[in-house]
Order: sequence, then structure tokens, then C-alpha cells
Amino acid sequence: MGVFDQVPLLLPDSIFQLNTNYQADTRKSKVDLGVGVYKNENLLAEILPSVEKAEKHLLKSEKTKTYLPIEGDPFFLKTVGKLVFGSDFFSTHQERLAAVQAIGGTGALRLAGTFLKQEVSSKVYVSNPTWPNHQGIFMNCGLQVYSYPYYDKSNHYIEFEKLIQFLSRIEEKSILVLHACCHNPTGMDLTVVQSKTLLKVCQDRKIIPLFDCAYLGLGESIEKDRAMIRMFAEEGLEMLVAFSCSKNFGLYAERVGVLWILVENCSIKKSIMSQLRRIIRTSYSNPPKHGAQIVAHILSSDLKKEWELELFSMRKRMHQMRHSLCAYFKNHTYLKKGIGMFGLIRLNHSQVKQLQEEYAIYMTENGRMNFCGLNAGNIEYVAQSLLDVICEK
Ligand SMILES: Cc1ncc(COP(=O)(O)O)c(C=O)c1O
Repeated sequence: MGVFDQVPLLLPDSIFQLNTNYQADTRKSKVDLGVGVYKNENLLAEILPSVEKAEKHLLKSEKTKTYLPIEGDPFFLKTVGKLVFGSDFFSTHQERLAAVQAIGGTGALRLAGTFLKQEVSSKVYVSNPTWPNHQGIFMNCGLQVYSYPYYDKSNHYIEFEKLIQFLSRIEEKSILVLHACCHNPTGMDLTVVQSKTLLKVCQDRKIIPLFDCAYLGLGESIEKDRAMIRMFAEEGLEMLVAFSCSKNFGLYAERVGVLWILVENCSIKKSIMSQLRRIIRTSYSNPPKHGAQIVAHILSSDLKKEWELELFSMRKRMHQMRHSLCAYFKNHTYLKKGIGMFGLIRLNHSQVKQLQEEYAIYMTENGRMNFCGLNAGNIEYVAQSLLDVICEK
């Protein structure tokens, strides 16, 4: 018998498997509303022109491919720090911000989970529903993961009172994973007033917020999308932010991200950095350079304006597709309340399966749709198919 004969077979990752199935589908009418990637009107995930220009610049100016520091490129960390916290907050408070480059948003969450398990070992609470990988990441860090009430799927609203009541019962130093903007999968974010109430509860109950910020600039604006992070940071909460450049810079495969830990006393930052460095050094030694340099160059040059316009057109297209699809429905106008890439349409599992099998329309099992999979050529087909399956004609 071989040493590895007892290794159990796991199911494939559901989102990546969905994408594989979509790629293998030979039907001409197929539509991909699954994986969370931005696609343009031609349904292509093209490289952003600002990114292409930055790459050309790097090709000419880069002198070495030697290792980055364990915590990553300091210039990148500074430019992205200003983007996420705002220049004013960043320059005043950077001494309280421990910052490390990460392997995408997932890597940032993983570093956060490893650090939290080691130093706080509290329970982690994720929204119900949430991005499915949250559960897996934090469990693999050895943390206990629970859900908090967030969204009533049958009635399509954020269950805010239930959420607040729930939080009033959880232990001190619990970790609360919050989507900074463009909640995945619902597209439904807290209002400013709700965020303020939540902030107060976190303060009173000594809850540690961990912001997952994977869609900055793809909701309403950079300013508005970072508003909840800013609000919590300005109130002096100790918190973490896991940031991804995958979607907003279209740098999915370059794996660019950051983890920040905002502490009360700047004197402790050195110790926190030393722990994060040890975790990184013993996991992958130091982060990749190329994507981080692209982002740093864009954010520190004239390309920033160009990138902001690209973000604007991405937002506009997602908004248009969301609203154009809703125009076909009488009973799904709740989708209009969401922002960003995703919406959760009221479908059961067998309806989602039927859409895939009979209509070649792919979405995740819970009915999450990526509006970027729509364009002028397929929107009517998708709308009619949905109406067929839901029997709402
Ligand atoms: C909510 C959320 N967090 C984090 C991530 C991870 O992003 P990355 O691809 O940068 O690891 C995603 C990606 O889909 C996401 O939707």
C-alpha cells in the first residue's frame, strides 16, 4: 500500500469548477454570469490601458529582479495606503498602520487569519451570505468561523436589527469580517447611518473589524467605497484591512494585495510587523513584484487619472447592465438597490441548474449573478430565460 493511498478526494472549488464547465460548454448561446471578473461590452477581460502603459514603463525602467523586502515594496505600500485610507489620514496615522504586501486579497485574508489565530485566537464572524472562501480561509488558519445575520434572501433587505442584536451577544475581541463595499454576493452595502451604528457596537463590545476590500472603486466612487473604512479608522478603532487589486486594476493573475493592521499605540507596530514578517518568511518568503510595481506606478503618475476614468466606465457598465436587466422584471426590482458586480436573484438550486443545463446560462448555485456577463447581444436572452425558469411570464 502506498503512503498516500488514504488521501481523501475533495470536491473541486465550486466557482473555479463553474468556470471550467462554462469553458467546456460548446453552445453558442452560452452566458457566463459566474466568476467575479470584470468583462467589457465585448465580454472580454482585457488588460486596462493604464496597466499596459505602466507595464511598458516598467519594461524600460526596471533594473533588477532581485527580492523585495519580506513585507513588500515600501513605495507600493505607501501609494496604496493613501488610496485606501485617503492621503490625509494616511500621512497623519501611518505610524499606527502595520502594512505588508500580500498575494492578492485572499493572501491578505490568510495573513490576517494566521496572525489573529496566533495573537488573539478569537472567533471569526462572517456575513450570511458571504464570499464562500471566507469560511475556508479562516478555518484553515485554525480559527472558529461563524455567520452573522446580514441579508434576508426571501425579502431582499439587510437584516440590520437582527445583526445588531446578534453582535450584542458575541464575545469581546471577536473578529467581524465586513465587506468594505460591493458586498459579495448580494451587492447590498450598509448605509452611512447603519455603519455608524455598527461602529458604535464594535466600540462598545470591543469587536475587532476586519474589512475585506476587494472592490474599491467599483461601487460608487473611490471616496464612497472607502467611506466605512475611513469612518472606523477615524474613530480610533483597532482593525484590519485586507485589500485586493485584482478587480479594480484587472490584475487578477498578478496577485496584488495588502494587509493593514491599524493599532492604537504606534509603539506596538514594530512587534506586529515582526510577527507578520515571520509568517510571510515561513510561508512564501517575500511577495511578487511585478503587479505591485504596476499599481505603484499608476497611482504615482499621470496614469492615475486614466485609471480613475477606466474605473468610472467599469462602474457605469455594471450599473447599466444591472438596470437594463431589471427593466425586464416586475418582481426582481430589488436587484436595482445593489451596487458593484453582483446581485443575488431569487432562484432555487434547481432553477440555477436548469438555467445551466437548458439555457447555457452559468451562475453560482445561490443565484449570484455577475452583471458583467451581460451585453447588448445577450441581455434579452438572459432575461427571457430567467422569466421562463422562474415562470413569471
Ligand atoms: C469578497 C472578496 N474578497 C476577497 C477576494 C479575493 O481576491 P483576490 O483574487 O485578490 O485574492 C474576492 C475575490 O473574488 C472577493 O470577492
